[in-house]
Amino acid sequence: MSQTITLPGLIDPHVHLRDPGQTYKEDFLSGTSAALAGGFTTVMDMPNNLTPITTEARLQTKIDSARRQAVCDIGFHFGTLGDNFAEFPKVISQVMGLKIYLNITTGGFIIDGAKLRGIYEAWPEGKPILLHAEDDVSDLVWKTLKAVSKPTHMCHVSSRAELEFVMRAKDAGLPLTCGVTPHHLFLSEKDADQLGPYGFMKPFLKPQADQDFLWDHFAAIDIIESDHAPHTKEEKDSDKPPFGVPGLETTLPLMLSAEAEGRLTRAQLIERLHTNAARIFNVPVDDSTHIEVDMSEREIRNEELLTKAGWSPFAGRRVVGRVSKVILHGETVFVDGKVLVKPGSGRLLP
Ligand code: DOR
Ligand code: ZN
Repeated sequence: MSQTITLPGLIDPHVHLRDPGQTYKEDFLSGTSAALAGGFTTVMDMPNNLTPITTEARLQTKIDSARRQAVCDIGFHFGTLGDNFAEFPKVISQVMGLKIYLNITTGGFIIDGAKLRGIYEAWPEGKPILLHAEDDVSDLVWKTLKAVSKPTHMCHVSSRAELEFVMRAKDAGLPLTCGVTPHHLFLSEKDADQLGPYGFMKPFLKPQADQDFLWDHFAAIDIIESDHAPHTKEEKDSDKPPFGVPGLETTLPLMLSAEAEGRLTRAQLIERLHTNAARIFNVPVDDSTHIEVDMSEREIRNEELLTKAGWSPFAGRRVVGRVSKVILHGETVFVDGKVLVKPGSGRLLP
């Protein structure tokens, strides 16, 4: 008999479910099904859709689509290019945070750095700002936070320099938290050659020394976020492969495997995959939501994934942990690879 463990429902504040606009890559049903298969009972969707979510009308269209399809709880981050401040008061009660891209990535949804301060001033108090801010823009982030002190989450910190920046900012009392992705914790530049386009994401994979620094300073990392970024194999094999890798279904087994190797404790795992995200993004936590995980060893296999992408950069890796059951608000919603509830049964946040 293999061992089964119980964990709280996991929270991922950083996923790209591509709905509306690119539902051939993923939609709210397939994306939230993948979330349940990975043990996530709450996800927050990013705004860099084909048509970016920068108006209340576009947000409504997205929320309506999620309402019809989601099978786990879901919230949304709003987007900005610095020219939609009139929308902020209209959407603030309907979103979890505001995402700002300071570096180039999928969708080309990037702002001019000179606009950052104005955006910070315009965004209402009470909901965090999330940044895609790699090392080259850290001075700008520091100056902005010094001038306008609003809670800010640095997404996908991937290098020594970036994590050192976060640690310095925290020491200086700036209101900063950070997330790290599993791909930056478990893959490095060395894997990039073999993975080709399937190891191609923003931020890029880093040298082993950077990955070691992230593990050595795990205490400074608030959240493990998947940055689930599904793209089709066809797109990845094309001349211009898009940035991003799917991650919802592999994050927990990778972290449980790291725990088994003594790289982190169970308490740290729960903080990084549940507690801290609940606090930072004000997610209501429910005692009647939990997951059961079969701790047998297994291999990650593309064929078993529920994401439409149908591939993982971790395929072939041996891990421990497979989500066997998800109880969401007292209801059994997922058992042994199957979603048991109707599309649209997930709750919308906030
Ligand atoms: O690799 C990435 N893919 N990084 C991002 O910042 C965006 C994401 C996507 O949307 O595909
Ligand atoms: Zn992302």
